[in-house]
Amino acid sequence: MSKRLVVAIAALAITASGAMAQEVKVGVVLPYTGIGAELAQQIDRGMEIYLKLHANEIKPYTFKFIKRDSKAPNGAEAKVAVQELLTQDKVDALAGFVYSPDAIASAPLIAAGKKLAVIMNAGTAFITNLAPEFVRTSFTMWQSGYTMGVAAAKDLHAKTAVVAYTDYPPGKDSLEAFKTAFEANGGKVIDTIPAGGPGAVPDFTPFFQRAKDEHPDVLYIFVPAGDHATAAAKTYAALGMRAAGIKLIGPGDITQDIKLQGMGAAAVGLITMHHYNADLNNPENKRFVAAWKKAYGADSTPDFMAVGGYDGMAAIAHAVKATKGKMDGAEAVKSLEGWKFNSPQGPIMIDPQTRDIVMNEYLDEVVLGPDKKLHQKVIGQTDHVKDECKELGIGRCAAKK
Ligand code: PHB
Repeated sequence: MSKRLVVAIAALAITASGAMAQEVKVGVVLPYTGIGAELAQQIDRGMEIYLKLHANEIKPYTFKFIKRDSKAPNGAEAKVAVQELLTQDKVDALAGFVYSPDAIASAPLIAAGKKLAVIMNAGTAFITNLAPEFVRTSFTMWQSGYTMGVAAAKDLHAKTAVVAYTDYPPGKDSLEAFKTAFEANGGKVIDTIPAGGPGAVPDFTPFFQRAKDEHPDVLYIFVPAGDHATAAAKTYAALGMRAAGIKLIGPGDITQDIKLQGMGAAAVGLITMHHYNADLNNPENKRFVAAWKKAYGADSTPDFMAVGGYDGMAAIAHAVKATKGKMDGAEAVKSLEGWKFNSPQGPIMIDPQTRDIVMNEYLDEVVLGPDKKLHQKVIGQTDHVKDECKELGIGRCAAKK
């Protein structure tokens, strides 16, 4: 190659800011097909909107996404995808993980591969203890469950609760979190009902009928977002549980924004605890929702999965800048410890001890708006909520000694 040509190529690679342009490879592991496909789309779009709204800040870096389908929520496909992304595609970072089993099964490979892995959904609390490369921008089930346990006793004045939960790690976490806080504040959980798995939507009727027969003040449920949530709200309505004096409560997974309109009147009055809903009234969220509707249509809406993707992309962009594009795993993780960001959900931070997010939790009530659509109205707020499972050091959440 002539000397002149080499100089010309080098000049092309130098951007207006004077730095070398550099492509960062991100392996994205999401359930693009199967029961979680809609959830994967929300996360992908959340990442895209972040890049759109922050195009100037990201320069001179560019991103190449290598997307892999984690399919059924059992960890098997996710693990293969992570292995190949790290060893064959040689990605600079990993991202995604809707379902906890996918993150849990991939953890040993992530620890061996030593690349930053940003969890954009999976909520089982102990996951971040499984590999030092995990940084979570979504939530833990303890953040919503524990805060709801307190609110159910103190704000909703419930004395008794039945808990029904999808029987896999985040469901068990949500149950334990709610029960721990509810009982510490004077409530009593009178029954706990495992209600099917995440791979298929069960008929919730027998589980909810059992709860109805026990006449608790509240039925607290955890089901994964998506079609499980719609089915649960409809079963609650079909069994006439509200008329029987039983309030349906849970984490915001059960009132996911993209599913809300499809729940119809059944959802009015549901009370949930979560870090995000699309109706949140703050300037960052207004900008996020407006950009979303412009990109994907007036009837589309972001939800908490989308904000997990948006915040996760912000975290990756921060790590890229902090490591000057090198993305050494340990350095990338370190750059995110204590990282603060003004998210559409409100101010967030990555806890330097646990690599979990610290954020606000909102107590929301589903209401029918003047536009005849369902909305989530904030009726309470708890600021700077940490993962209480690690704060209390419960089970696998205890810090490794
Ligand atoms: C999870 O598997 O960790 C999970 C999935 C869906 C949710 C919440 C948690 O809505």
